[in-house]
Amino acid sequence: MREDLSSSLSPPRIVDLTTGVWPSVVEKFLLEMPSDDRQSFGAGPALVAEFASGRLGRFSGIVDPVKAALVGIVGGWVLDSEAEIHLLYVRQEDRRRGLGRKLLASYLSDLDRQGVAASYLEVRESNRAARFLYYSLGFTVEGVRKGYYQNPKEDGVVMVRKHVRDPVSDTATSQ
Ligand SMILES: CC(C)(COP(=O)(O)OP(=O)(O)OC[C@H]1O[C@@H](n2cnc3c(N)ncnc32)[C@H](O)[C@@H]1OP(=O)(O)O)[C@@H](O)C(=O)NCCC(=O)NCCS
Repeated sequence: MREDLSSSLSPPRIVDLTTGVWPSVVEKFLLEMPSDDRQSFGAGPALVAEFASGRLGRFSGIVDPVKAALVGIVGGWVLDSEAEIHLLYVRQEDRRRGLGRKLLASYLSDLDRQGVAASYLEVRESNRAARFLYYSLGFTVEGVRKGYYQNPKEDGVVMVRKHVRDPVSDTATSQ
């Protein structure tokens, strides 16, 4: 009861992980990630290190103030008017609380505001949880990359979310 009350008084908040102390927090967060989770988005050690350096792209996180912890991260690259989302992750013990949805929706809204026209990502074919989430936020299947993932080898489903500009509010929404 007390935890419910404190959760509602201190809801999870989104943070920009590219500034301040966050890059080093992200590095630790990624290193502590269980290896089977890391394989779910195909990130090897080199890619994880690049993410942790904070140099390549845009990263956001979600912090649970009650736990005083970073509990999820999303990140990718923005290249001109296209974005490639490489990483979406919520700690195992914090899943099914709506945090992944909140984090990704916020990230996509930022891309909308930046004028991104299309966001791409790959997901393991068997990853139903992520695919459901992506569909519900406006992604559609663009194609399949045969054998894209290793350990275990699996096809990658390429998904895209196209953004259209709303002429009334001049903000982008998914098509
Ligand atoms: C995918 C992931 C980020 C979802 O995070 P989450 O915080 O648990 O997701 P949410 O609680 O916000 O749920 C959002 C939606 O995802 C889907 N979903 C999440 N977990 C699911 C599950 N176990 N089974 C089926 N659908 C699921 C549902 O559509 C859900 O919407 P609903 O609650 O209205 O049914 C999380 O499972 C994760 O980190 N997985 C490991 C890493 C990974 O696979 N990343 C994606 C790689 S491309």
